[in-house]
Amino acid sequence: MDKKLTWVPDEFNIVVPSAARMYDYVLGGAHNFKVDREAAERLLAAVPARDMVRLNRGFLRRAILFLVEAGIRQFLDLGSGIPTVDNVHEIAQEADPSCRVLYVDIEPITVAHSQLLLAGNGNAAVIRADLRQPQTILDSPEAHRLLDLTQPLGLIMVEVMQFVPDSDDPWSIVAGYRERLARGSYLALSHFTPDGMPERMAQAVEVFKSTQEPAYPRTHAEVMRLFDGFELVEPGLVYTAQWRPESPQDPGAHPHHSNLYAAVGQKL
Ligand SMILES: C[S@@+](CC[C@H](N)C(=O)[O-])C[C@H]1O[C@@H](n2cnc3c(N)ncnc32)[C@H](O)[C@@H]1O
Repeated sequence: MDKKLTWVPDEFNIVVPSAARMYDYVLGGAHNFKVDREAAERLLAAVPARDMVRLNRGFLRRAILFLVEAGIRQFLDLGSGIPTVDNVHEIAQEADPSCRVLYVDIEPITVAHSQLLLAGNGNAAVIRADLRQPQTILDSPEAHRLLDLTQPLGLIMVEVMQFVPDSDDPWSIVAGYRERLARGSYLALSHFTPDGMPERMAQAVEVFKSTQEPAYPRTHAEVMRLFDGFELVEPGLVYTAQWRPESPQDPGAHPHHSNLYAAVGQKL
């Protein structure tokens, strides 16, 4: 691998697979290494990961368009991942170029590549930070520049909270953001669940144990608790494909194969 490539920063871990780079591989991206591809192949043997990421990105797109339609013009995307097509700023700024987006990810290659992609876009930025520290992120210079916390905002936590163990109390982390957001703000979230395919998700959990981010799929009730203080919009917490599909046929016969619950809630 050519270390001079600008998307490869000095500080990164090539020995242990990362969820961000595995996700990039499954989505067909090029920002991954052999260790990531091998782990991703093990994941693909356990669960229908290609369908899972495709359906997850579809939910993300529909949720952003819903939020823009609802009047939201600023977004905080936590665990944003390696940019592919249809990133939050592209979807939102296509609808309204004045939309502002702050991306946050913990993985250095994700951040380096996002910086390249966002160069010249005055209404979007990325920072490397740990989402488990809401105050650090909300008080960062980039948040001050791009986000007005006195106005409603779209908080995006898509396919990321499953990487936060119970011991770090994911529920209080979400509450740490919610308390700082203006009324009328929204939370859009998707999350791994063992409910649909318990045995195969248990195999996926084993694969993630060998990566930088062990995964903790959660039940419907556990994911619902992440929305404490938010009122869910229709249709509530459902499998990704079932969240406001573009056509009635879209969810297909096996929506539980997405292994991801998704919902959008509003802070009232
Ligand atoms: C599966 S990807 C999801 C990417 C994107 N949100 C999406 O749904 O397409 C999960 C991302 O969360 C990031 N991540 C995991 N733990 C994190 C943490 N504690 N703080 C910030 N980012 C984190 C990973 O680096 C990775 O890029």
